[in-house]
Amino acid sequence: MLATGHAELPDEEATAALAQAIAPALIPGLLIFLCGELGAGKTSFARALLRALGHHGRVKSPTFTLVELYNLSRFELYHFDFYRFTHEDEWLNAGFDELIGSAGAVSLIEWPERGGERLPAPDLVLRLRYRDDRAPGRSALIEAFTAQGLACLNAACAAGCCRPD
Ligand SMILES: Nc1ncnc2c1ncn2[C@@H]1O[C@H](COP(=O)(O)OP(=O)(O)OP(=O)(O)O)[C@@H](O)[C@H]1O
Ligand SMILES: [Mg+2]
Repeated sequence: MLATGHAELPDEEATAALAQAIAPALIPGLLIFLCGELGAGKTSFARALLRALGHHGRVKSPTFTLVELYNLSRFELYHFDFYRFTHEDEWLNAGFDELIGSAGAVSLIEWPERGGERLPAPDLVLRLRYRDDRAPGRSALIEAFTAQGLACLNAACAAGCCRPD
């Protein structure tokens, strides 16, 4: 891991601000894991990111469809949700290996833990969690694993959305 940072997300506006800060740093080929328990805010972050990237239409949770594709002005974006996978290789059997990390697209994966060890290594991991003190909202740990992921983390910190560790 190259670096980590923390973000406090007391409401959905804060989640949107974090997504807006990261969006300009996204480049095709980037792989982002969205971790966190049920309802932690993974889809909310993905939705905010898509809005920040200029998508005006609906952003459906891919819980049932497994993947949603967006043709954005700068690149394509695949939004995966592996929640329903019960075996590690199901994403491979679904042919998702041809999509994930493909040169022209950004990929977001909810529940990447269910993809097992054969999933490619991510550039950036966002770990969303409920705040301990029963305060409303969420917090996020952001982990950068590559230079491209670090650019995203730095953009979030530069915008004041995240505190470097
Ligand atoms: N920063 C935040 N502060 C307060 N509420 C939030 C925040 N982010 C998301 N929420 C709320 O949490 C709820 C669940 O969010 P979301 O669907 O994004 O979770 P998820 O992690 O994708 O869940 P799942 O694992 O079921 O896919 C939504 O009602 C959303 O409004
Ligand atoms: Mg979700």
